[in-house]
Amino acid sequence: MIAASRGSAAHSRYGEVYEAWRRDPLAFWGQAAQAIDWMRPPSEVFAPSLGVYGRWFPGAVCNTCFNAVDRHVDAGRGSQPAIIYDSPVTGAKRVISYNGLLSEVRVLAAVLRDIGVGKGDRVVIYMPMVPEAVVGMLACARIGAIHSVVFGGFAARELAQRIADAEPKVILSASCGIEPSRVVAYKPLLDEAIDLSPAKPEVCLILQRPQAEASLVKGRDLDWTETVNRARAAGKAADCTPVEATDPLYILYTSGTTGKPKGVVRDNGGHMVALTWSMQNLYGIAPGEVFWAASDIGWVVGHSYIVYGPLLSGCTTILYEGKPVGTPDAGAYWRVIAEHGVATLFTAPTAFRAIRKEDPQGLLIDNVDMTNFRALFLAGERADPDTVQWAERVLNVPVIDHWWQTETGWAIAGNPLGLGALPVKHGSATVPMPGYDVHILDEAGQDQPRGVMGEIAVKLPLPPGCLPTLWRADERFRESYLEALPGFYKTSDAGYIDEDGYLFVMGRTDDIINVAGHRLSTGGMEEVIAAHPDVAECAVVGASDPVKGEVPVGFVVLKSGVARPPEEIEAEIVARVRAEIGPVAAFKLAVTVARLPKTRSGKILRGTMKKITDGETWSVPATIDDPAALDEVAAVLARRRGRAAAP
Ligand code: COA
Ligand code: AMP
Repeated sequence: MIAASRGSAAHSRYGEVYEAWRRDPLAFWGQAAQAIDWMRPPSEVFAPSLGVYGRWFPGAVCNTCFNAVDRHVDAGRGSQPAIIYDSPVTGAKRVISYNGLLSEVRVLAAVLRDIGVGKGDRVVIYMPMVPEAVVGMLACARIGAIHSVVFGGFAARELAQRIADAEPKVILSASCGIEPSRVVAYKPLLDEAIDLSPAKPEVCLILQRPQAEASLVKGRDLDWTETVNRARAAGKAADCTPVEATDPLYILYTSGTTGKPKGVVRDNGGHMVALTWSMQNLYGIAPGEVFWAASDIGWVVGHSYIVYGPLLSGCTTILYEGKPVGTPDAGAYWRVIAEHGVATLFTAPTAFRAIRKEDPQGLLIDNVDMTNFRALFLAGERADPDTVQWAERVLNVPVIDHWWQTETGWAIAGNPLGLGALPVKHGSATVPMPGYDVHILDEAGQDQPRGVMGEIAVKLPLPPGCLPTLWRADERFRESYLEALPGFYKTSDAGYIDEDGYLFVMGRTDDIINVAGHRLSTGGMEEVIAAHPDVAECAVVGASDPVKGEVPVGFVVLKSGVARPPEEIEAEIVARVRAEIGPVAAFKLAVTVARLPKTRSGKILRGTMKKITDGETWSVPATIDDPAALDEVAAVLARRRGRAAAP
């Protein structure tokens, strides 16, 4: 259904702009690249013979930090707020101007340089949502080092895997993160991760927070504040190092189908061009306006739209250390929007489901002055129509679903507010952005007719901003994304395109699940569970959850002869997943069954198990080996849930 006209195809420039890209992609991106200050302009826009599927802007020399900070100071924006840090969990608020940001970044960059970090060296950042984390990212960019930010909700083992793969020279971290219910000591997790990893950093720079100070390891750890203050007093400051547009800016690890995360690489040049284009044309944001991505710098949304997108565009970005609910209540987002004059909010639908649960009528919005507020963008998981309609009703601004992935770095499909919004269809991510030639394919790679579901694939080459490869793993990149559908990038999302060309993204085709907008691998959880000494085999499925969208549920078969009570083992399994993957997995339910339902060829029937877990109607697949196994799953789950529901 087309929603009451928030936009109109006739008034949108989308069709014209998308066609302009289709007609001449090189001219389109060449034009977009003029928004960037290059130290040496690109010799060509795209070189198909370079890299795995071609490279954008080869020959160009640039610096992302210069474009995100210095040039705005040069252009007279020095006193404009660059970052507004708002932390309801600590009570702190701080405004950092572009002048202030430049000064902080120059000093930290000098500290890193003096430690020995240079172009191409990696720096892992394991930090909460504090300004120093953003300064750290920009300082790396300034000296051509490659940052790799790891989300704070991951446990030591996950962090260790990332350290092992990235082999950082330095790690930037903090003594703790602050969750509404507890202070999370990061330093013990960091120390454990370094112990577990075969690759060790030479130096860790630790930001001490008063909520939980950490003890420092002699000879390896430095106190952040002391070190930076000393460098500032000594007049240290680093200039921008010229890097190739094709050099990596960062590595961001994301869940793959195994427990080994994929190191998504982002380049400097294409990334700047794509994000700058998106800020203006997709989000409809002008320099000087306030943009708020309520996410975390550990996720791609945080990289692209807390840090780089807004700063490259000369906007003010909000760095919010809090939650949509409970810090202190479901009115927190409205308070931030009003207090800081936010024009556009970007978050995950799960945040709105959480707010709606607490304040179904949206009463906390009444009497809040949100005059500047123009639009809400949602991504990270499917935006269910019910949540979108609720948000439209209580906010009375356009609510825009858009679809993308860590790999792409910016939206594959969306409703381009900056070009004039198209009519909204609830449940659809709207239309492909320029750069993305989106196809719906069957398994043989044939285009599906309109309205028919299939694998969503993007014709190569991917546009600027998307991953050129995986960190030191070209072959894994090819195998994971390019081989199944030759000539296309396989998104691993399924969906369809309707008669009007609107894209509907319905869910993943692999074992990735989305828990409160966080991307997690059920395969990774299965690896952790299978390592329990009493477990013979296991399967994890994503069960529907009214707030988080999905939560994992583990089914385990115990080894024969295990005499301990299953409840005891289940509790250990829950604790293991939390300790090894992290609290962010929200793995709270493990259920013991006598056997897993399988096909005759031995494939676990995860799809049917998910239906049972979700309370949907299910049927016994013809290929099943032992039909009673499915009945048992249903019965055990019903018993468990009955028990959990009892007072
Ligand atoms: N450091 C340490 N622990 C963290 C953490 C961090 N940075 N972030 C989350 N955790 C912990 C939480 O404390 C929680 O632990 P618990 O099991 O002890 O309660 C667990 O990880 C799960 O966290 P979260 O997914 O945030 O769930 P929640 O129940 O605390 O809150 C929402 C649910 C919906 C309010 C929350 O997920 C949210 O704000 N989502 C907003 C959208 C978003 O951030 N999306 C990211 C991609 S755009
Ligand atoms: P991440 O890499 O964490 O950004 O997660 C990417 C995955 O989240 C996608 O492959 C989708 O499965 C899902 N996703 C993100 N945005 C949307 C959306 N707007 N609609 C449907 N699914 C989405």
